[in-house]
Amino acid sequence: MKLPKNARFSTVCIHAGQEPDPSTGALITPIFQTSTYKQDALGQHKGYEYARTQNPTRSALEGNLAAIEGGRAAFAFASGMSATSAIAARLASGDHVVVTDNTYGGTFRLFDKVLTRYGMQFSYVDTSDLAATEKAMTAKTKLVFIETPTNPVLRLTDIAAVAKIAHDRGAILAVDNTFASPCLQRPLALGADLVMHSTTKYLNGHSDSLGGCVIANRDEDIEWLGFIQNGAGAVLSPFDSWLVLRGTKTMALRMVQHSANGQALAEFLESHPNVTKAIYPGLSSHPQHDLARRQMPNGYGGMLSFEVESFERARQVLNRFKLMALAESLGGVETLVCHPASMTHASVPPERRAAIGLSDSLIRISAGIEDIEDLKADLDQALQA
Ligand SMILES: Cc1ncc(COP(=O)(O)O)c(C=O)c1O
Repeated sequence: MKLPKNARFSTVCIHAGQEPDPSTGALITPIFQTSTYKQDALGQHKGYEYARTQNPTRSALEGNLAAIEGGRAAFAFASGMSATSAIAARLASGDHVVVTDNTYGGTFRLFDKVLTRYGMQFSYVDTSDLAATEKAMTAKTKLVFIETPTNPVLRLTDIAAVAKIAHDRGAILAVDNTFASPCLQRPLALGADLVMHSTTKYLNGHSDSLGGCVIANRDEDIEWLGFIQNGAGAVLSPFDSWLVLRGTKTMALRMVQHSANGQALAEFLESHPNVTKAIYPGLSSHPQHDLARRQMPNGYGGMLSFEVESFERARQVLNRFKLMALAESLGGVETLVCHPASMTHASVPPERRAAIGLSDSLIRISAGIEDIEDLKADLDQALQA
């Protein structure tokens, strides 16, 4: 089996990084559930010594993820947060980072509560505002870390423009591409140096695995990420690697339906009398719809948010969903709803939430791939309270 050099995206998703198992012909990469490997003689082995350092199932996934994001190498971690930690471990005491202000709550918590203890400094900026981003850069800025679209207010950052700002000041750009998925947005092609994902979300796609990855292009990043993956040891397990490999095979197909359902639900919400605001990059009312069309040419994804009159009203609506599950996380085939202010973003102080437009009456939807009429019916009955 040979993947053609000019293979298209969905073909790459299905085949890259994988060869039938040479000893059996098994088409699907086996789960190599082993902690160690017998060596042929002292100093002679088959490229595998110890499972933290190398594992064939993980290597297959890493080859697959690198090809999907158009990078030279990928590194799979035990969670999205450990992937972000590996990027942050590039920094030293005294280094400064410019971060999207409306980043995932766990990312903010890691930066604000853990890494500041080691003398790293973080400026939280609305990176959709290029002038503000440029202004936040200092002589000590080593990293710009952006999330686009943001979780959960779906603000967009112009990746190519921020890559230029970072590079002009000698910093590197890392993009959390979890919300868009590589089907819809390709940060490395737009000039980013590193891409990270919580593979827990669209890459795995079935709400049954926790993981993360970083994809890199530059030699020094690749060398460091390999070193820190083994050195700090937060590696993805063989079984989770196998699950994510299975997930990426159907990702291109899934994202078409996630985007179609996201768009249809956003339009439904925008015209609903009991909804005060609908937020989705695919709506022409989204303040950055033009950027979304340019930067996410294949669709706008399954993530949308909306506001109702008050927190009390949001509570009523959330408690009435029947088909949609009230749950944290996103990117699975089943539709989930959540209340970011008290769930995913509870670690963000209320004044910061207010500053980024995350109100207590905001509800987030991760649109799954169910029949759209069933989703609309559930949403409609929940909003009728
Ligand atoms: C945008 C984003 N980045 C990173 C993470 C962290 O990933 P994980 O939960 O796999 O550690 C999440 C989790 O929800 C997320 O939504």
